[in-house]
Amino acid sequence: DRGHYRHFMQKEIHEQPEVIGRTLSRYVDVPNGQPVLPVGCNFADMDRLIIVACGTAAFAGRVAEYWFERYAGLPVKVDVASEFRYRKNAFMKGDAALFISQSGETADTLEAMRLCKAAGLKTLALVNVEHSTIAREADIVLPTLAGPEIGVASTKAFICQLVALAAMSVGAGIDRGKLDEANAAQLISELNAAPRHVADTLALQAEIEDIAHNISRGSMVIYIGRNAYFPLALEGALKLKEISYMFAEGYAGGELKHGPIALIDEDVSVIALVPDDEMLEKNRSSIRQVASRGAHVIVVADPGSAPKLSNEAEVLITAPATGTILTLLAQTVVVQLIAYHVALIKGTDVDQPRNLAKSVTVE
Ligand code: M6R
Repeated sequence: DRGHYRHFMQKEIHEQPEVIGRTLSRYVDVPNGQPVLPVGCNFADMDRLIIVACGTAAFAGRVAEYWFERYAGLPVKVDVASEFRYRKNAFMKGDAALFISQSGETADTLEAMRLCKAAGLKTLALVNVEHSTIAREADIVLPTLAGPEIGVASTKAFICQLVALAAMSVGAGIDRGKLDEANAAQLISELNAAPRHVADTLALQAEIEDIAHNISRGSMVIYIGRNAYFPLALEGALKLKEISYMFAEGYAGGELKHGPIALIDEDVSVIALVPDDEMLEKNRSSIRQVASRGAHVIVVADPGSAPKLSNEAEVLITAPATGTILTLLAQTVVVQLIAYHVALIKGTDVDQPRNLAKSVTVE
C-alpha cells in the first residue's frame, strides 16, 4: 500500500529514518555505544574480505571497501557477481566472502556464493529478504531490516546496507585493534544520529525539485566523487538512468582528465559530491575543470564544505550532516531525490521503469 505517497519509491525514501533505526538496532548496542557483530562474524581472523553483489548492492560494497580499509585495516576486494563467477579467482587462505543482496534471489550473486562455498570460503550474506535462497544457503546471515521494497530502484535497502556495513567496519576495527575506543564511539554516535539527519535531509525536497528542472533540460549528467563518494557517484548515476532514462555516469574526480572531461559542454550537468574532508581541495580542482568548460555544476556539500565552495558552484545543496559516515548517508538521500524528481519531470514510470525487473533471477 502506497498510503498517501504517489509512488512506492517516494514512500520508501521517506521510510528511511525508521528502517535505518531498525537495522541499527541489530548492529549497535545503543545504550553502550558499541557495535554488535552477529555470532560467527569474526573479522579478526580474516586476511581478506571479498564482497560480491550486483547493481546498487555492489555499490554499497564499494563504499564499504573504503570503510573496512580505513577503520579496520582489512584488505577488501569487491566485484560484480556476473564477473566474479566466471573469472579464475585466486583465493587465498584467510579469505571470507560477503554477498550483498536486497532480494536474496539475484542469480549471479547466488551462483557466486555457491562457488565460494564450494571453494571452502566462509560465506556471509547481507540480505533484506530473510527467507530468500541466498539467506538460506549462507553460513552467516546479516539482515537489513528495510522491510519489503517494491520500487524497482533500490533506496531504503541500499541505505540499510550502508548502515549495517558501517557498523560492521567499526566492529571489525575494534576486533582487529585498529580503532581505539574514542574513535569507535565517535563513529557509532554518528550512526545513532543517522535517522535524525536523514529525516532532516528529506526536508531539502523543494530545493531539489527546482534543481531537477535544470538537470532534466540537459543532455546528460555526470556525478563525481572521491573516496567513498566515488561509489556514491556511481550509485547516483545508476539511480538517475534507471528511472529517468537520462544518460548519466559516475566518475572518480581524479579520472576526469583521463577521458570523461571530453564530454563536457554547456548541456552537461555535473553533480559533485563534496564533504568537508581531506579531499576537499582535490574536489575543488575537479569542479573548476568542468565549470571552466561550461558544465552546470551542482555541488552537494555538507555544513563544513558548503562555505568553502560557495564560489565554485552554480547551485549548492547542503546535506545537513557532518562526519565521515553520516555525511555519506545524507548525500545518499540527496542523490535519490534528484533521480526521483528528474523522473517525475520526465514523466517516466518511476516504480516500474522500462526493461527492468525488481529481482534478476535469470542471467
Ligand atoms: O536484490 P539485489 O540486491 O541482489 O539486486 C541487485 C540489483 O539488481 C539491484 O540493486 C539493481 O541494481 C537496482 N534496481 C538498483 O536500483
